[in-house]
Amino acid sequence: MSKRNIITLIFIVTIKTILTAISFNSFTKKETVKDIIHENKHEQVNLNNNNTTKLLEKKVNGKFVLPPLPYKYNALEPYIDAKTMELHYTKHHQAYADGLNKALEKHPELKSMSVEELITHLDTVPQDIRTEVRNNGGGYLNHSMFWLMMSPHSGEPKPELAKAINKSFGSFGNFKQQFNETAKKVFGSGWAWLCLDKEGNLVITKSKDQDNPITNGYEPILGLDVWEHAYYLKYQNKRFEYIDAWWNVVDWNHIENNYKNAVDKISKK
Ligand SMILES: [Fe+2]
Repeated sequence: MSKRNIITLIFIVTIKTILTAISFNSFTKKETVKDIIHENKHEQVNLNNNNTTKLLEKKVNGKFVLPPLPYKYNALEPYIDAKTMELHYTKHHQAYADGLNKALEKHPELKSMSVEELITHLDTVPQDIRTEVRNNGGGYLNHSMFWLMMSPHSGEPKPELAKAINKSFGSFGNFKQQFNETAKKVFGSGWAWLCLDKEGNLVITKSKDQDNPITNGYEPILGLDVWEHAYYLKYQNKRFEYIDAWWNVVDWNHIENNYKNAVDKISKK
């Protein structure tokens, strides 16, 4: 091989090595960015939640579809297991979306309404689909709210809500104890809630099945699903263990925003 050919060969090998390295780095970088975007999605959601309707529902061709889950199925481990998250989101939440769409097929005039509007004004929903909308619309809305109320980055209650909780319940410990008792006492299937009432007071309430407090004029801030489907795979009949574990995944940034939005809404009523 001539000296010139050897130099050409070395040149080609060097260029090829550089191109391979660039390609590998790009791929790695792309994957990393994708992961970061996925991991940060929840925070992005929290930062832009002034229009809550956009976060709580998604429509494609006039049909309700599931809003994206803001974290991976295993993100809330070990407190909420991946299998429960997957089934809860893909089967239970989906079933409520399907049920709501089916009910609304009978009344196309309601199709432009948001799920919040439907649930807030249930008394105006035609009688023949009211129960279906109440159960399925409620289930759709409750779960959309619930996913956003949780995060792998929990922390502590943020200043404004923490101050309001201390004022209303004496301490965060007292509030947590009362909330836990309420959640424990839900008979059968339902939810426990922290809400603002019509006068702007913080109150702990519970609701049956998939009823949402907005139907009764409350503004929900924090909610806990105590249907067995939310915990049975991991906790079996030990609901209290699930309730206790759940506090580790409450997204206090989002709950603070919920509180501020609720105060704002109540003040405008
Ligand atoms: Fe549920």
